[in-house]
Amino acid sequence: MSDQVVDLKKIKLHYQQALPNQMVTAVVVLDHELGICYVNPSAEALLVKSLSKLYRLPIDQVFYNTPINNDRLQQLLTTGQEFSDSDVTIEFFDHRKITVEVTASSVTFEQYPHILLEFKQIDQQKQISAEAFQQQQWESARDLIRGLAHEIKNPLGGLRGAAQLLDLELNVEQKEYTAMIIEQADRLTNLVDRLLGPNQLPVMKLQNIHVVIEKVFQLTQFDNPKNITLARDYDPSIPEIVFDQDKLQQTVINIVHNAIQALDGESKITLKTRAASNKTINGKRIKLCAEISIIDNGPGIPDHIQRTLFYPMVSGRASGTGLGLSICQTIIHQHQGKLSCKSRPGHTEFTILLPFNSEKNQ
Ligand SMILES: Nc1ncnc2c1ncn2[C@@H]1O[C@H](COP(=O)(O)OP(=O)(O)OP(=O)(O)O)[C@@H](O)[C@H]1O
Ligand SMILES: [Mg+2]
Repeated sequence: MSDQVVDLKKIKLHYQQALPNQMVTAVVVLDHELGICYVNPSAEALLVKSLSKLYRLPIDQVFYNTPINNDRLQQLLTTGQEFSDSDVTIEFFDHRKITVEVTASSVTFEQYPHILLEFKQIDQQKQISAEAFQQQQWESARDLIRGLAHEIKNPLGGLRGAAQLLDLELNVEQKEYTAMIIEQADRLTNLVDRLLGPNQLPVMKLQNIHVVIEKVFQLTQFDNPKNITLARDYDPSIPEIVFDQDKLQQTVINIVHNAIQALDGESKITLKTRAASNKTINGKRIKLCAEISIIDNGPGIPDHIQRTLFYPMVSGRASGTGLGLSICQTIIHQHQGKLSCKSRPGHTEFTILLPFNSEKNQ
């Protein structure tokens, strides 16, 4: 009987010592003076420092600008009242930021009260759910506009046809009016066609993405009235992948045109390609992708349109129709890829991800 008790004690001790090292959750133990006395390997990875560097360091010298401050931790030590926050941004002194779920509880070690902090990093989860939400919103906006455009297109054809017939009956002076109706109907048809988006299925072929990027580079260089510096930064090791050449070219041109329109003064556009691994596209983990980045040093995307940038009819320009990026998004979706943008003044970066082995590539 007593043997069994001893064994259980041993087993308990063994697991207590071994488990924190295996956990995905980052565990940090603070002593009663709020100095770090233990971090498990996940916490070392999260804090990008080893236990030997962190040992005895006051916690407020590791985190900066965080809601888990000394006052709350002291309160926990005195009252024993645990707390947990589900969406906390922690900033480090090197300005790196992470979003975590944190639970703080008190434990007693060797008769002294300690604090056990458990962190679970949620940046990626948050980003994926924000992307899924954006995706749904974009699809609803696109469907609504497509439906509307479709309804406008039919009577527009009738209107133009009637004006043409009427034109046959009229004298030269009156023909000016029918010409005006036809011209405006054509303008509207053009707009409606763009609203409807790409109407042909992509023509997929196994080829090298650099053929497209290089063509856009050349075209932009030939027609460059703003004298923008164009740079190339290619990864030639990217293998051939399956895509529609015209459509990918249209996408890159649209993005480059937007950059040209936004740029002023000493300006630069860089076309960059890389092979990227472990990316998430539409909630799926993709092992390998081609990554095409179009980077400019212009003023950045206006704040008020950043969240809805890819929605149809969202424009920051007085003369813009706001369809360019929505069309690009449709095209990249047809390729099972992903189009995203990060922008701040001085650095705007559009990124296209195309899986090496999308369904069409298999
Ligand atoms: N590189 C960039 N720098 C700054 N703003 C940008 C950049 N790219 C896009 N934008 C902003 O995003 C808006 C939306 O672009 P989008 O291509 O969808 O529409 P548009 O250019 O306004 O009109 P369209 O392309 O239909 O003629 C632009 O109006 C512009 O305000
Ligand atoms: Mg545009």
